Amino acid sequence: MKIKIAPSILASDFSKVGEEVARLETCGADYVHCDVMDGNFVPPITFGAQMVKAIRPHTKLPLDCHLMVLHPETHLKDFAEAGADIITVHVEACNIAELFKQIEGYGVKKSAVVNPETDVEKLFPAAETADMLLLMSVHPGWGGQKFIPETLHKIEKLRNYCVKIGRPELDIEVDGGVTEANVGEVLKAGANVIVAGSAVFRSPDMAATIKRLRG
Ligand code: DX5
Ligand code: ZN
Repeated sequence: MKIKIAPSILASDFSKVGEEVARLETCGADYVHCDVMDGNFVPPITFGAQMVKAIRPHTKLPLDCHLMVLHPETHLKDFAEAGADIITVHVEACNIAELFKQIEGYGVKKSAVVNPETDVEKLFPAAETADMLLLMSVHPGWGGQKFIPETLHKIEKLRNYCVKIGRPELDIEVDGGVTEANVGEVLKAGANVIVAGSAVFRSPDMAATIKRLRG
C-alpha cells in the first residue's frame, strides 16, 4: 500500500501559509492536512473554508480537511467550493451515514474520524463506503502533543476489519504526535497515511523528514 505523508498546516507559519503549502509540495508531501477548529467541538479556533480557498491555488496536492467542528453538515458546501479534496468528519459530531451522502453529493472524498477515547468499532459502519478513515492519536485541538500508544491497537483492529470486509487497501490515516521515532510502529500497525505537523514544520530539512516518515 502507498504510504502517504500529510503535513498539517496547523504547525505552519500562519503569516505565510500559501508559501508554506508550496514548500510542502516541493518537499515531497502527498497531502496538505488542514485542521479546521471551531472553538466549540474543540476549544481553539484555527480557520475555515476561506483558508482552504486561499491555499488552493498554491498547490496541486490534495487538500485533506479535518473538520473538528460541531454541525459539520452546515460547512460542507463552503469547503467543497473552496477546493477541499477530502473532508473528514468526527463520529462524535454527526451521523456519518448522513454526512457521507452529503459529502459525496459535492463530489468530494469522504472520511470519518474517532477521538482517542472513542471505540474504534464506531468507525466500522463507515468502513464499508469511506474513501479514508482517520484515527486520532492525540486529543484534538492542538499540535505538538505526545502520541497516545493505545492508538496502535486501534489501528490494528481497524486494518483487520477492513481486510475482513474485503477492503484491505482502504486508506487509514493517523493524526497526532507522529514523529520519526514512532512512525515505524504506526505503519507496522497498519496505517498508511501519516499526519505530521510539528515533526515536519520543526524539521531543519523538511524533505528529508518527509522521506524518513515514509519509513
Ligand atoms: C490536532 C490535529 C492534528 C495535529 C497534528 O487536533 O488534528 O492534525 O495538528 O499535529 P502534530 O503532528 O504536531 O501532533
Ligand atoms: Zn488533524
